[in-house]
Parts: sequence; structure tokens; C-alpha cells
Amino acid sequence: MNRVVLRFLSIADNVGLARIAVAALAAQTNFSVNDLEEIKVAVSEAVSNAVVHAYPGRRDGWIEVACAVNQEGLTVAVEDWGVGIEDIERAREPAYSRDPERMGLGFVFMESFMHDVQVESTPGQGTRVRMQRLVTWSGELSRDAQ
Ligand SMILES: Nc1ncnc2c1ncn2[C@@H]1O[C@H](COP(=O)(O)OP(=O)(O)OP(=O)(O)O)[C@@H](O)[C@H]1O
Ligand SMILES: [Mg+2]
Repeated sequence: MNRVVLRFLSIADNVGLARIAVAALAAQTNFSVNDLEEIKVAVSEAVSNAVVHAYPGRRDGWIEVACAVNQEGLTVAVEDWGVGIEDIERAREPAYSRDPERMGLGFVFMESFMHDVQVESTPGQGTRVRMQRLVTWSGELSRDAQ
């Protein structure tokens, strides 16, 4: 069992930092290279959302990524203290975005690459996205094919 907590400002460059750190931690258990790539995508999407949506136009908001790894897999929680989400169900719908220039696919990637995704949010207070990936779970695509 190992745990890491990273706290950083809402600056776009920090997305890559968080992604690499979580993947390095995840590599301490039995994930394949492909699993690690998928984990990186899910973490990037959650952290980008915190940078872009939680603190629009601000580079001084805190984001915290707390992760734990063990033989069974990885859990990652991405938390911000930004604007929050009014309607979580709608935000999670494919192709929904607050910004017409965006694809609205961040949550879709998180859900297809992680075994479980939970979103808690309070408008005006912030958002916490908790994701879990089991070593034995090989992704939505292969699970559907079984
Ligand atoms: N941390 C957050 N704080 C506030 N709002 C959020 C947060 N994360 C997501 N949202 C809201 O949920 C919507 C959907 O997020 P999602 O990642 O699926 O799409 P997107 O970020 O709009 O587009 P894409 O990820 O494809 O660039 C966002 O448009 C935003 O309104
Ligand atoms: Mg997004």
C-alpha cells in the first residue's frame, strides 16, 4: 500500500505533472503499459476540468490529487474549491459542455477508462471526483466484449 497527495495551482502546465505522478505511483502495482496510458488519460481529464472549469481565468486556485495504490489497484481523488457543478447528471452526459468550443467528453473518458467514477460537488464550494481502477479490470471495451 502506498499513498501520495499532490497539491498544486490551477495552471494548465500542472495537468502533465499530475498525470505523470499518478502514473508513476500506479506503476508500483501490476498494471500493464496500456492500463497506465488509460489511467493517464482519465487523470488528465479530471485535472483539466479542475483547471479550466473550477477556476475560470484564474491561476491561483488549489487543486489536490490524492491517490492510493495497493495490490488490487488504484484510487485517485481530484478535488478543487472552485465554482462547483449545478447539475452533475447533466455534466456527465456525453457531449455536454458549458463551453460550446469543447467536446464535452472528459467524463466519458474517465468513465470508460476507470472502473468507478464518483462525482460530488456543491455550487460555490467545489468538486471532488473519485475514480478507481482495479488491476483485474481491463476497461469498458474488453468488458463489453466478454
Ligand atoms: N471541476 C469542475 N468544476 C466545475 N465544473 C466542472 C468541473 N468538471 C466538470 N465540470 C462541468 O462539467 C462539464 C462536462 O465536463 P467534461 O469534462 O465532460 O466536458 P468539457 O470539459 O466541457 O469538455 P472536454 O473535457 O471534452 O474538453 C463541463 O463543461 C463543466 O461545466
Ligand atoms: Mg473536460
